[in-house]
Amino acid sequence: MNNTQALLKSVNIGDFELKNRVIMAPMTRNRAANKDNAPTELHAEYYAQRAGAGLIISEGSQISDAAVGYINTPGIYTENQVKGWGKVTEAVHENDGKIFLQLWHCGRISHPKFHDGEKPLAPSAVNPNTQAYTPDGFEDTVEPQAMSVADIKQTVLDFKHAAENAKRAGFDGVEIHGSNGYLIHQFLNKNANIRTDDYGGSIENRARFFFDILEAISEVWPENRIGVRLNPSLNDAFGIKASEESIATFDHVIEKLNAYDLAYLHLSEPFTDVSEIDYLEPNIAKHYRPIYKGKLIINAGFDQESGNKVIEEGNADMVSFAKLFISNPDLPVRFAIDAPIAEWDEDTFYTPGPKGYTDYPSYDAEKSK
Ligand SMILES: Cc1cc2nc3c(=O)[nH]c(=O)nc-3n(C[C@H](O)[C@H](O)[C@H](O)COP(=O)(O)O)c2cc1C
Repeated sequence: MNNTQALLKSVNIGDFELKNRVIMAPMTRNRAANKDNAPTELHAEYYAQRAGAGLIISEGSQISDAAVGYINTPGIYTENQVKGWGKVTEAVHENDGKIFLQLWHCGRISHPKFHDGEKPLAPSAVNPNTQAYTPDGFEDTVEPQAMSVADIKQTVLDFKHAAENAKRAGFDGVEIHGSNGYLIHQFLNKNANIRTDDYGGSIENRARFFFDILEAISEVWPENRIGVRLNPSLNDAFGIKASEESIATFDHVIEKLNAYDLAYLHLSEPFTDVSEIDYLEPNIAKHYRPIYKGKLIINAGFDQESGNKVIEEGNADMVSFAKLFISNPDLPVRFAIDAPIAEWDEDTFYTPGPKGYTDYPSYDAEKSK
């Protein structure tokens, strides 16, 4: 037993205690293959298997029809979706787990096939020049529709409505997906957002949409039940081309977040090598730890050793693991006993049904085979 390791110590976030610092990162798994895009018993089983995490952050859940960008992803804007998520939260709570819902709007990482032939919404009519995962497979993205101010106001209301629904579905809190090139990130990014109104131009203006959403959600949830996810050094991925103002933009946003009593800030280390790009930050935890005063979750590429190290060095409070949680439903137990870690199968990340989803055994079950 190795229970003294940093990852397995409890931690307080908001008004509750997490039993460990091994956080399950949000992961889209495309299993809501039904006409309502509602979570099912299968989702409940999958998340319950992973309830040993200190906190589960659900897969991105679209906040409206306009927010959809992938096939078979679960929404949080209809009654059937709320009911479906209710099964998930009940199963996680029965297994002594905690779960936040990730609120998601894909913006321009989408396709007209999801919007009755209409262009997807985005801050500006700038094609991300990437691919969208449509009902007919991967297809090139299109030039999106620049949002009117009325579209922006409606989208803020959609986030609020979705956050209310998350409460009704029994979640412990919500995470705002401001990461990975989706709508909020598009507003923050100077190359994706070329607006000339109050929502574009200066850093403050590009951050306005995000803070409007945060303010709206704060009317529904206490601030300490809201988490925020950001990916400051994202570059050449998910249609995002970083700009010389990227880090300055995230510095502004993150400094400003100190005024909110959030449950946590969830950051990712760079997804690609940015060491040669002098205007991007290669070490996100180290850079933002002194700037952000609240609880910090760090992600991307961590394992047991590097996860313990980043906490021990004081650069993060918690570590989130994505792919490791796909194939190791009992990840904290495996860390506790230094058990072998199972490999994940990429071919079943986004396919419907239980294969590669709920059929990875716990270490106990594997041993007794
Ligand atoms: C299958 C899969 C689906 C993902 N879906 C989401 C998502 O819905 N929301 C999100 O913020 N990140 C998503 N991510 C990114 C992960 O949360 C995480 O940042 C990334 O996998 C790096 O962490 P890791 O090295 O522990 O896997 C996804 C990653 C994978 C592998």
